Amino acid sequence: MQLSEKIEESDLQVLRHARLPEKVGFGDIMLPIMTRARFRDGQWQTHELLPYQALSISPSCKGLHYGQVIFEGLKAYANLQSGGAIVFRMKDHWARMNQSAQHLLMPSIPQALFEESIKALVSRASTYIPAKKGDALYIRPFMFSSASGLGLSNNTDFDLYFIASPSEAYFTEPLDVLIERDQHRAFKGGTGMIKMAGNYGQIFASGQRAQAAGCGLSLWLDAETGRYVDEFSAMNFFALVDGVLKTPPLKGTILPGVTRASVIELARQQSVDGKSLEVQEVDIEIDALLANIESGRCTEVFASGTGATITPIQHLKEADGRSYRLPTWELSSAIKAQLQSIHHGITAPETAGWCTAISFIGSWI
Ligand code: COI
Repeated sequence: MQLSEKIEESDLQVLRHARLPEKVGFGDIMLPIMTRARFRDGQWQTHELLPYQALSISPSCKGLHYGQVIFEGLKAYANLQSGGAIVFRMKDHWARMNQSAQHLLMPSIPQALFEESIKALVSRASTYIPAKKGDALYIRPFMFSSASGLGLSNNTDFDLYFIASPSEAYFTEPLDVLIERDQHRAFKGGTGMIKMAGNYGQIFASGQRAQAAGCGLSLWLDAETGRYVDEFSAMNFFALVDGVLKTPPLKGTILPGVTRASVIELARQQSVDGKSLEVQEVDIEIDALLANIESGRCTEVFASGTGATITPIQHLKEADGRSYRLPTWELSSAIKAQLQSIHHGITAPETAGWCTAISFIGSWI
């Protein structure tokens, strides 16, 4: 399907003359263009490049009422080596979005449609991609059921948008974390492993409790027993225990993070005393972990996600005020530096397909 360009000279002028502030924040500034594809009568019918604008949807739009809303988050980085941009692990984000779509009985997105949407935005976004290391153009694809009507019948109409925003890493400082003992994010057989909007609704109340306890994040435990670590608010969990990097397995309740997968690969390439670092995808019992922090066997905990990349954790805290301090951020800093260097084209990844180079178009480059 051909992308039809419906942007005007005035939109190009805005793109041409944009100047980003020194600090861009996260998700506050929007690229002034977006793409929209519409699925009707069993097929993708239109694919357009449009000015960024408010959506017109029916008040009975089923996505709004019944939660058929999925999204992705991926980043285009300034290629600091040879110009243009690098989109990180585009194919993996496409594949994950289709897993989310399949789980909620939404249409599958052709790879070409996903990639063309990103290329259409990134190739015109030279003035919106911050050059600072760690900053990026955060790309947010999202799809929802756009049919109107309040019945719970299978939906036939879906709209897919790609918007983008120049962004810093979501968190720039090490964080304290509140262990969430009361609420749970996901359960076996539920939707914890897909990226649907509804999974994020739980974050707000827990986040408020975390904030009241002086923490920037909460840590979800499994809903079945409350004994095992699932993930942070919206990021995957890693802990270094006895020199082994541990992360909860993909057991259907946690998001299969693209950064999580990258961290596992990069960690295995780290050399410790002449051997490669061991990484285990295993259940992590929270009380054993806290005991290991107290005894010094667990030296490091960090969070991974596309938004934040890697965020070191300073303290794990209980609501009653008990606090467990992590002494180092050595491994997380090394992996973060390695990832950043790949993101910005300074080093080539060992694995093929991680980086897609996109050149800028337009006479203003
Ligand atoms: C991401 O890391 O892409 C996220 O999902 C975080 C976002 C919800 C702010």
